[in-house]
Formats: sequence, structure tokens, C-alpha cells
Amino acid sequence: MPPLLSSPRLSQSPYQSYVYSYPHKSAYRPCPARSLSEIWSTEKRDALFLYIHIPFCEMRCGFCNLFTTVNHNDEFVNQYVNTLQRQAHRVKAELGETQFVRFALGGGTPTQLPIAALEAILNVAESTMGAPLKDIPISVEVSPETATAEKLRLLRDHHVDRISIGVQSFIDAEVLATQRRQTTTQVQAALTRIRAYGFPTLNLDLIYGLPGQTVDTWLYSIRSALQFQPQEIYLYPLYVRPLTGLGLSDREWDDIRLACYRAGRDLLQAEGYTQVSMRMFRAHHARETSSPVYCCQADGMVGLGCGARSYTRSLHYSNDYAVNAKEIRSIIEQYLTYDDSAFAVADYGFELHQEEQQRRFILLSLLSEQGLNCAAYRDRFGSQALTDFPQLQHLIDHHLATLQTNLLMLTQAGIERSDAIGPWLFSNHVQMLMSQYTLK
Ligand SMILES: C[S@@+](CC[C@H](N)C(=O)[O-])C[C@H]1O[C@@H](n2cnc3c(N)ncnc32)[C@H](O)[C@@H]1O
Ligand code: SF4
Repeated sequence: MPPLLSSPRLSQSPYQSYVYSYPHKSAYRPCPARSLSEIWSTEKRDALFLYIHIPFCEMRCGFCNLFTTVNHNDEFVNQYVNTLQRQAHRVKAELGETQFVRFALGGGTPTQLPIAALEAILNVAESTMGAPLKDIPISVEVSPETATAEKLRLLRDHHVDRISIGVQSFIDAEVLATQRRQTTTQVQAALTRIRAYGFPTLNLDLIYGLPGQTVDTWLYSIRSALQFQPQEIYLYPLYVRPLTGLGLSDREWDDIRLACYRAGRDLLQAEGYTQVSMRMFRAHHARETSSPVYCCQADGMVGLGCGARSYTRSLHYSNDYAVNAKEIRSIIEQYLTYDDSAFAVADYGFELHQEEQQRRFILLSLLSEQGLNCAAYRDRFGSQALTDFPQLQHLIDHHLATLQTNLLMLTQAGIERSDAIGPWLFSNHVQMLMSQYTLK
């Protein structure tokens, strides 16, 4: 068996980066402007995913590096909604005949919008973009404080069937240590309201590796979540240290996260949940929903709003990207000044040639419960995955994956190293672009 050290990335920390898409936005660059009508003309447009991004939150949690701002007033929010409406009209005109089969409203915190603005956004999806809300899976992200009764009613009336709520922990001190303004009482009230409105799918996000958290307090949070019988639970390893005073070495922090992960996984499996990916667990009785994980090989995604990405088979594009509060605010301000013609072109993104498309296919299927179907890969690309990427054999040799009847699946040891295996499969070109990206 070759030593694991021959692949240093695989033998380092299991917590290198969360790969929910490939390539990461930090590999995007300015590119020659192309019209959306030209970009989409050769794409299948009869089963698209619509994503709308709302970059507003009531608080900036210490761990979060999503594209969102707390620096907004009603006037700013109204301008944002107006701009998004303009963008939708223009994008729809460029795309022509389309059919949306899934819709997600994410952020940030979409329910941070005042109710009239939230309704306007749902109307953009339905009336402007033509997404048949009554007939398709719709997922909306909420936070406990903003999941008010009137907003939940509005969402239910618009046929939203999946609510995803960030809880992080059921222990006040753990949450507060991340500068997240939230009490467990608030969380329980929000979960009770969500249940009362009868959303078919409730997803709950929890984080492990928080300051002061132990395996016992972690399991307490999971058990508290289970009382609300969520159809889905996401267990996120913490990636950004919220406080520097933790006094732990990287190695010790890795060990704690790994112990929490294993204990959490075992508890959820014992409670009747299936592991869908390293982070996602689904109740046995729950149906597959609009969760992004099921879209992994669907290349057609139309993103609206500042910070949203759009995917065709060969081009991923968006507008500029940042994590720094000031930069995010200025990118949104710039978005508000775009005239309609600016929404008709893509000039910032990443072009996926055949090899990158193959990597994307392998990465996204291998890191989910579906596994890499080598026959489907051959049908799509006309070649063999293990011949194109001999390094995959390494996963088998090290018991991180098994190959049975053309299906390459991660083992338990592989799943818990998903955040190392993912980056290990990035191309040199993507790794170089990501490392050269200066974080704003
Ligand atoms: C868009 S938020 C969910 C909705 C809402 N904004 C909220 O926080 O309640 C996405 C989720 O990503 C997770 N997350 C964000 N940054 C993270 C980090 N640095 N480490 C671990 N999980 C993180 C959190 O669990 C969070 O709930
Ligand atoms: S975790 Fe949610 S509420 Fe907190 S900053 Fe990120 S998106 Fe906003």
C-alpha cells in the first residue's frame, strides 16, 4: 500500500475546506464579457435551478464568511429589491424559454427582509422568472429571530416546502461566544412556529468545534434538535476560530472536531437518520427535497442578486466577491448602480474545460451518498474516471473508498475526510488561482 504521505493533502488535517461547489468562487476572475443569451443558447433550459441571494443579516456571526452585510436600512433594502427585479427582467429576456424545477432563497438571511420585500422577491421568482412555485421544491433559509409568524405564513402561502434554520447550538454560552445574538428560548419558539405552519421539511444547522464545547454539550445540542423531529440536520465543523483565546493547538482542535463528528454521526444514525454527506443527515422517512445536495450534477443554475453564482456546463459566473464587511457593502452599492444592460452579460467567472467538468463531476458525486457512478461518467465524457484520474486508486488503496460494480463510494473513513479529499482533487490551475486570490 503506498504511504498516505505520498499525498500530503490527504494526510494533513481533515479540516481543509468545505467543497460545496467546484471551483470555489475565489478561482473566478474577470473574463471577456459575453451576453447571457449567447452563453445559455446551447444549454438545456428545461430543468433549471433558480437561486436568489439576499445578502442581509441581523447580526454578523463571528464564524461566518458568507456574502452578507448587517449594514443596511429600509431604503437600502428597497433599492436592493428594485435592482433585483430589474436584473430578473433582463436575465429572463436573455434566457428565453426556460423551465425551473427547483428554487432556493438563501443568504445571508432572506427573512431579514421586511415582509413586503420578501413577498416582492417571491413574486420575482414566480411572475418574472416564471418558476411554478406551486409545483416545485422551494427552500428558504431563516434565522431564529427573523422566522416570525407572519413571514412563515407568507412562505407557506407561497408553497415553500423546506425551511432551513441556523441554530448552531442549544447552549447559550456557546452561541454567545461566536458573537451570535441568539437565545435558546428564541430558537425553541422559532422551531415551534415552523412546525406549527406544517412545512414538510425542516432542516437545522448545528456547528461543532465551538469555544467551550465538549462532546457532551454537542450531543446535548443534537438531542435538543431531535425533539423537533427535523427531516434534515446539517452538522458543520467550525472553520473560523471565533475567539483567539481558545488556547488549543490546531491538532487539539482537529481532535475535538473529529470526536464531535463521530459522536454526532453515531447518534443520528442510531436515531434513524441516513448520512447523505459528511455534513448532511436525513431522517429515514423524509423525502428527498430541494436541498442543494441533490442538485450536484445539475449544471443549470440561474442566480439572481448580488453574490449569487450561475452555472452552465462550461461557465460559472457571478459578480465580484469579498468577505470583508466594507468590501461587501461596496460591492452591493455597485450592484445597485448597474444599468439593465450590465445584467445581460457575464464578465467575471470561470470557464470549465472538459477536464474541469470531469473533476467537478467526480468531486460532487464522490462527496455525496450517490458516489461516483463510473458508467455515468463514461456515458457523459466518453472515458474512464480511473484512467483519467489515476489518483482515485489511492483512495481505494487507503480504504478511503471502495469500488463495487462501477460505483466508487467513500468509506466511513473517507467521509470523515471529505474536507481533505475535496481540495486534493482540485486541479493545479484552480489551486493556483485560489492561492493567488487576495481576500478582500
Ligand atoms: C446562511 S446560514 C443559515 C441561515 C441564517 N443566516 C442563520 O445563520 O441562522 C448558513 C449556515 O452555514 C453555517 N456556517 C457558516 N459559516 C460557518 C463556519 N465558518 N463554520 C461552520 N459553519 C458555518 C452555519 O451553520 C449557518 O447556519
Ligand atoms: S451565520 Fe447566518 S446570520 Fe450569521 S452572519 Fe452568517 S448568514 Fe448571517
